[in-house]
Amino acid sequence: MNIDQLKATITTIPDYPKPGINFRDVTSLLQVPEALRETIRLMCEPYRDSGIDKIVAIEARGFVFGAAMALELGCGLVLARKPGKLPRATRAAAYTLEYGENTLHIHTDAIHAGERVLLVDDLIATGGTAEATVELIKGVEAILVGAAFAVALVDLPGLAKLSALSVKAHHVIE
Ligand code: PRP
Ligand code: ADE
Repeated sequence: MNIDQLKATITTIPDYPKPGINFRDVTSLLQVPEALRETIRLMCEPYRDSGIDKIVAIEARGFVFGAAMALELGCGLVLARKPGKLPRATRAAAYTLEYGENTLHIHTDAIHAGERVLLVDDLIATGGTAEATVELIKGVEAILVGAAFAVALVDLPGLAKLSALSVKAHHVIE
């Protein structure tokens, strides 16, 4: 499958979940086995020889891509979760996104100083969610090797926000 064919598997829903938001729904990509396999392969490609110790994947859609990538890269998987979901002590960072605001948590023992970490999510839009996750990763002095997304909404400031934080980002579909 080429990039245009991958892009065609993603359904766009106007005015969801709020008026003015063009929602890019990756669940339709997940339903096509070849599209999922090729998206995961392309997301992993830049990181095969990067010695990644842990992927930090963001709830909820990011979990799907992060788990598949962790298997392919042979690294650990850390879940960045919304409030009230992780049972042990956590570190937290608040953020805003296109249609709301929230907080992300990771367990305090999930990543350690000096570990090589890859941030993974399904999609980057304003970059608020990714920025909060960068804060969690850098806050423990782990090495943030990069950030991988299936989709980037390139008219929104997410990628520029990561670039300003000196985080290298890759995406498959625009
Ligand atoms: C979506 C998406 C990203 C985030 C991107 O998650 O999965 O995590 O928005 O937006 P941003 O770049 O503007 O921060 P959402 O919070 O809707 O959660 P979900 O994955 O649980 O549906
Ligand atoms: N997360 C933030 N903005 C989004 C959008 N437009 N479509 C899908 N997920 C999103």
